[in-house]
Amino acid sequence: MPVIGGLVTASESSKPIKVAVAGVSGRMGKAFVQAFLHDPVIKIVGAWGRENAEYVGLDIGQVAEVAGGARTGILVSSGFIECIAACSPDVILDVTQAEAAWRTATSAIGKGIRPVVGTSGLSQTHLKELASLAEKNNVGAMVVPNFSVGAVLMMEFARQAGRFIPNVEVVEMHHTQKIDAPSGTAMHTANKLADSRSHYNAKRVEEKELMPGARGAVHPSGVRVHSLRLPGMISHQEVLFGSEGELLSIRHDSFNTKCFIEGERMAIRHVMTQNKLVVGLDQILFATG
Ligand SMILES: NC(=O)c1ccc[n+]([C@@H]2O[C@H](COP(=O)([O-])OP(=O)(O)OC[C@H]3O[C@@H](n4cnc5c(N)ncnc54)[C@H](OP(=O)(O)O)[C@@H]3O)[C@@H](O)[C@H]2O)c1
Repeated sequence: MPVIGGLVTASESSKPIKVAVAGVSGRMGKAFVQAFLHDPVIKIVGAWGRENAEYVGLDIGQVAEVAGGARTGILVSSGFIECIAACSPDVILDVTQAEAAWRTATSAIGKGIRPVVGTSGLSQTHLKELASLAEKNNVGAMVVPNFSVGAVLMMEFARQAGRFIPNVEVVEMHHTQKIDAPSGTAMHTANKLADSRSHYNAKRVEEKELMPGARGAVHPSGVRVHSLRLPGMISHQEVLFGSEGELLSIRHDSFNTKCFIEGERMAIRHVMTQNKLVVGLDQILFATG
C-alpha cells in the first residue's frame, strides 16, 4: 500500500491497513488490541509502550490481556524505531502520554507513516506544527480528542447551542489516573463553542475567588472549564448553558472503552485517505460532499 505521499485510492483501501499501537499496556491500548486482533480490515502488526518496560519482548496477546491469553506471534517492541523496522505499519494508533505522542507523531509523519493520536494533552501549538508537518510531507494524520460517537455528538450539540445561548460552563469528570487537565474533550468542546461565538460569559459582577481555581479555567472565548477527578468515574462531561429561567444540560457518559471502537475504526480508515492533519471525529461524521 503506498504510504509515502499521495492519497490511497478506493481499490487500494480494500487491502488490510497495517496498524502499530503505541501504549499497548494501557487501558486504551489493551482495548484496541482486544477489539481489532481478528479484524479483516485493520490488521495489528506491532506495538510498543514505555521504554525499557518489563513487557518489552512479550506477546501482545499476553500484554493486552486478550481473552484466553491468546498468543499472536507479535512481540512488543522497545520503541517506535524498533517497531516500524519490524512491521512497516501504514498507521500508528497512539494512546500514550502527550510528550511521547508528540515525538511519535512527528517522527511518523517524517517517515510517511500516518499517526492517529488519541492521546490527550497536545497543545494548540502542537496541532499547528503537526498540521504544517503533515502538509509539508503530504501525509495524512489525525488527532482525535474523543473516539466515542456519543461524545462527538455532545460536542456538536454544544456548538449549536452556543449560537443561541451566550452563557456556558463545561464540567468534565474522570478517573484519578488521568494526568492532564482539562481533558482533550473539554478543550475540543471549548474550541468548538468558540466557532459559534467569539465571547461567552460576559462579566456581570466583579468576582473574587476566595480559593484560587474555584471558578475553573478560562478558555480565550470566556468558556469556563472545571475538571473533577474522582475514583469510580470513568469519562463524563456535561456542558451547561444558562439563560434567564432555564438551564440546558448536554451530557455524555462513557462507561467503558467499547464506546471508542467504532471511532477508532473510522479514524484509521479515514487517515488513509488524507494528506493533511484532521482534528476530531466530527470532521468525518459531519463531512459534507
Ligand atoms: N481519544 C479518546 O477517545 C481517548 C479516550 C480515553 C483516553 N484517552 C487518552 O489516551 C491516553 C491513554 O489513556 P489510557 O487510559 O490508556 O492511559 P494508561 O492506561 O495510563 O496507558 C498509557 C499507556 O502509555 C504508555 N506510556 C506512558 N508513557 C509513555 C512513554 N513515554 N512512551 C511510550 N509509552 C508510554 C503506558 O506504558 P506503561 O503501562 O508501561 O506505563 C501505557 O501503555 C491518555 O492521554 C488519555 O487521556 C483518549
